[in-house]
Amino acid sequence: MLVIVTENYDELSKIAAKKVAELVRKKPTAVLGLATGSSPIGLYKELIRMHKNEGLDFSKVTTFNLDEYIGLTPDHPESYNYFMRKNLFDELNVDERFINVPQGMLDVKNIPAIEEFCTWYEDEIKKAGGIDLQVLGIGVNGHIAFNEPGSSLGSRTRVKTLTEETRKANVRFFNSEEEVPKYAVSMGVGTIMEAKELLLLANGKGKAKAIKATVEGPITAMVPATIVQMHSKATLIVDKEAASELTRKYEGWIV
Ligand code: F6R
Repeated sequence: MLVIVTENYDELSKIAAKKVAELVRKKPTAVLGLATGSSPIGLYKELIRMHKNEGLDFSKVTTFNLDEYIGLTPDHPESYNYFMRKNLFDELNVDERFINVPQGMLDVKNIPAIEEFCTWYEDEIKKAGGIDLQVLGIGVNGHIAFNEPGSSLGSRTRVKTLTEETRKANVRFFNSEEEVPKYAVSMGVGTIMEAKELLLLANGKGKAKAIKATVEGPITAMVPATIVQMHSKATLIVDKEAASELTRKYEGWIV
């Protein structure tokens, strides 16, 4: 696991974008796993800049998003589908047919329909040849995608109940806590671990404890992000604040 500590969020975003761009240039048909939330926004802005100013071509790239709230239509302003369109896809030349965001309009009580969708999503990832590079954020509780503490480390795409902590963290995007969805469909920890490469981004003091646990703590389902220690090609890009609780720190990079 490579941990890159940056001065600030801007530097974090530029290093992350460079990595994604390198892959897309080397493999124009790359399969990207994408995250929503505030952490990758700078990365997405930089990719848009590279597309517009440097001709970075996404026309053959396939994307799979990690998760989606249940109960929000794709055009709901807080749906992850909408987020991805506004913050990335609308500004790039990604082929609509190659964009995959999990379906949010599922009935949590209809287990067969949910299972059918989740199996289909996993199969689509396999058919695309697997994810080459998975972008991840991390929750303050150490979740990755919506794999909340206690999620099986071998889990696959499924419906998850959001913890109160996560719902509270996300209330800033809604009018009230009641409006924050209770469930989400999410790639599993096992699904994420099958990506050929992981790129986890974290910034700000609020993420410091989760980053310490992820880098230095024991691997535990209670902090799902700790499983990235087992990945053969994982890079964490964290700003100084998110790295502030790491004890094994050297000038520049930490390996
Ligand atoms: C979003 C996702 C979540 C976020 C995490 C951090 O697709 O999978 O796990 O990455 O909640 O969110 P931010 O970046 O908003 O702090």
